[in-house]
Amino acid sequence: MTKTKASPKFKALTSMTQIAISGTGLFTPSQSISNEELVASFNTYVERFNARHATDIAAGTVTALQPSSVDFVVKASGIKARYVMDKDGVLDPERMCPNIPERSNDQISVLAEIGVDAARQALANAGRAAEDVDCVLVACSNLQRAYPAIAVEVQHYLGTRGFGFDMNVACSSATFGIQAAADMIKAGNARRALVINPEICSAHLNWRDRDSHFIFGDVATAVLLERADEATSAQRWEILGTRLKTQFSNNIRNNFGFLNRCAPEGVGKPDKLFVQEGRKVFKEVVPMVAEMILEHLDAMTLPPAQLRRMWLHQANINMNDFIARRVLGRDPVGQESPTILDTYANTSSAGSIIAFHQHSQDLASGDLGVICSFGAGYSAGTVVIRKV
Ligand code: COA
Repeated sequence: MTKTKASPKFKALTSMTQIAISGTGLFTPSQSISNEELVASFNTYVERFNARHATDIAAGTVTALQPSSVDFVVKASGIKARYVMDKDGVLDPERMCPNIPERSNDQISVLAEIGVDAARQALANAGRAAEDVDCVLVACSNLQRAYPAIAVEVQHYLGTRGFGFDMNVACSSATFGIQAAADMIKAGNARRALVINPEICSAHLNWRDRDSHFIFGDVATAVLLERADEATSAQRWEILGTRLKTQFSNNIRNNFGFLNRCAPEGVGKPDKLFVQEGRKVFKEVVPMVAEMILEHLDAMTLPPAQLRRMWLHQANINMNDFIARRVLGRDPVGQESPTILDTYANTSSAGSIIAFHQHSQDLASGDLGVICSFGAGYSAGTVVIRKV
């Protein structure tokens, strides 16, 4: 038997191989909608609806719609504004839906375009070129088509090698993608992986629904993962452990899909957009996520007091405050659990990565943090990291 020399490019991999997050990127749309603008448009819609149906409302056959309020939105969610791909379409009371024209097959698709933008920033921050990457995961809640995978299109436009595929675990997609990428690098099946979260939530939101019209915004984030002993960027983080959990629930659901054409009578129904039982979500997900973070830290013999930062999924400020309080055993202070909800709103899988991208540079070498996402499924993921 002839002995073969290990390729100089791939050093020996062991189950102890450490993986690093060596760069992050963030694409932010140029247009933003304030709560005041949003509520004014919604209330115009309500007035027009009630005027149009005045006779039926008086006869008791149609229920009058109630106006929204800026104070409620801020108190219930912490959201003050959201970035969107098309402000005019959302704010037009006769439309209340972004206007995003269909593109031809020889143009880059919208999701790939914003994903490529975030990915280029992640590569630049990691000091890597596209050809250094051999795996692209597009992990998000809302994929714009069935196939080809958006990740393969991103691979094409970026010029990365290897392979790409899409995955969807709703708001938890980023942490699930990070674990999948880290495992593939550990196994030697990829050398460097981009995990990209393009989220055009404005197109899945029912802007006519008073209970949820304020919740979402648009964005794209990206992280680059590589072996810790190969990473060289100034801002890099070693992944100490990842943990994922799912538990079936209908409390956050969107029934949009290709089978809708087989039952056309259901196409226009509100369940083909985002719907939730917000209170149940709050009650059931908060304890699940807090316990998960505590159990994960315990399994790693890391006391919660050592956590310097929690980059939590950004759905609701009250939820995040509850989770941070349960994990720390006290109120979070300063930037321990940063929020980006005030400017970005809920951006589904991208939220915890935006918080990480914007609120991690000030930490010192050796500082510990946890990226945590949670959402529909239910699903939740934790990624415990240490600054190198
Ligand atoms: N403007 C003014 N009032 C409103 C309103 C609006 N836009 N929407 C609802 N209200 C009213 C309701 O009519 C209700 O009035 P009532 O008490 O007279 O019946 C009151 O405000 C409370 O409504 P409710 O829906 O129970 O609010 P809430 O305090 O539970 O907050 C959520 C709603 C959705 C913000 C909250 O439940 C939540 O954050 N849940 C988790 C959401 C989440 O993370 N989802 C994951 C998405 S990925």
